[in-house]
Amino acid sequence: MEKDIIESKQGEVLKTSFKGGNKKLFIESYGCQMNFSDSEIVASIMADQGYVTTKKLEDADLVLVNTCSIRDKAEQTVRKRLSQYKSVKKKFNPKMKVGVLGCMAERLKEDFLKEDVVDMVVGPDAYKDLPNLLKKIEERKDAVNVLLSLDETYDNIKPIRLGGNGITAYVSITRGCDNMCTYCVVPFTRGRERSRNPETIITEIKGLWQQGYKEVTLLGQNVDSYLWYGGGAKKDFLKAKKEDQDNALLFGELLNRVATAVPKMRIRFATSNPHDMAMSVVEQIAKHRNICKYIHLPVQSGSTKVLQSMNRQHTREEYLDKIKKIKELVPECAISMDMISGFSDETEQDHQDTLSLMEEVKYSAGFMFAYSERPGTPAFKKMEDNVPLEVKKRRLAEVIEKQNSHSLFRHKEFLGKTVEVLVEGDSKRSDKDWQGKSSQNSVVIFPKENYKVGDFVNVEIKECSLATLKGVATGYSDNN
Ligand code: 5AD
Ligand code: SF4
Repeated sequence: MEKDIIESKQGEVLKTSFKGGNKKLFIESYGCQMNFSDSEIVASIMADQGYVTTKKLEDADLVLVNTCSIRDKAEQTVRKRLSQYKSVKKKFNPKMKVGVLGCMAERLKEDFLKEDVVDMVVGPDAYKDLPNLLKKIEERKDAVNVLLSLDETYDNIKPIRLGGNGITAYVSITRGCDNMCTYCVVPFTRGRERSRNPETIITEIKGLWQQGYKEVTLLGQNVDSYLWYGGGAKKDFLKAKKEDQDNALLFGELLNRVATAVPKMRIRFATSNPHDMAMSVVEQIAKHRNICKYIHLPVQSGSTKVLQSMNRQHTREEYLDKIKKIKELVPECAISMDMISGFSDETEQDHQDTLSLMEEVKYSAGFMFAYSERPGTPAFKKMEDNVPLEVKKRRLAEVIEKQNSHSLFRHKEFLGKTVEVLVEGDSKRSDKDWQGKSSQNSVVIFPKENYKVGDFVNVEIKECSLATLKGVATGYSDNN
């Protein structure tokens, strides 16, 4: 039987071609954008095994959950979900199999199988082994593959776009992280840095453009570390042939090539690392109209002492200097951050340094967290998680409050100005309004008139809150 229609988890119909079968896959993702992107790769691998995605958990022959280990709370959320699968399985479908993918699979490995809730454990570099692992389940053997790879980038797998809006898509360009920030579990769950072949990146993006997509986000744990020298781990670059080293491609040049190859496609990228981000990246933002004026540049703390104990490789001053240079080259560039409150030995003065750094930068947005000690990390092994929970929470609340005032401040700067919005869909509040994003990544809402999803529209901003800009359309932008 040949099928060419796949129903995604969110129920939207996507066209692809795959060989026969009517088994049903329920797949869901937690954590970062990379996980959501990986699930689209997994859906593609499973389609070749005859699996159609379903949004009804009760109907699923196979449930795959792509998991996150970044904070304890993320793991607890997945744990709760696993027990929900177990009761659905018992009640509706005793033959249902459950597989854990992603960072929790990598961190907990075989231990997961001992718990009675999971049939298969698959780490982030082992998704191509899924067909083989499924066979092992049928043979009642342990189905575990948590091997980390030095070169797996899922280069030639065409992702099945799950539940998106048909307008914006993620494209992964690097995997893993070599930075070893002391609080972070990612180097242990996602392995060493490696980059994807630029040709397959550009082919995928051109394909998306032909399908009607208007924006791509280039993804990696650390995109600025992108280095293509013919394949392999970044750490092995110096062992490569001289010719391959000489022809190596860095992130700034990749951005240049992508932006040139699809000149009307909006390009975003995440996540940037302050230590690794070269000014050539910012130069490309200045040069190409289609690269969004937005950088997510996590800082984690405003105290040089804390940055050092986090092994962040830069001081407060170096970070602020980079922000200054970004603003010089691209004055309208929006900058957002990640911040951790209550890291080991963080004093009241360190916390004040964080607040004063925020005051200097006035970020457009922020993702802020209380420190959560992760087993196996350098901080877990060598430092004490010694800031009491109430203190962490109070400091985090102060950081969030400050960020809220800055988000509003940045949005007020747009009042009376006109921004280009890519329409993504209905506003959450009213189906009479469209919702989309500006180049600076602000959510913008405006009355629909005759515009449609996928249009680039100029919108004059009349009102704002810390979360959204509201305005009226003044016409199509010249990007259509
Ligand atoms: N505790 C709290 N937050 C963390 N992050 C990473 N590890 C931890 C941790 N152990 C945050 C950082 C990172 C973001 C993805 O998650 O701010 O940039
Ligand atoms: Fe979570 Fe980080 Fe793993 Fe993404 S890479 S799933 S954020 S732990």
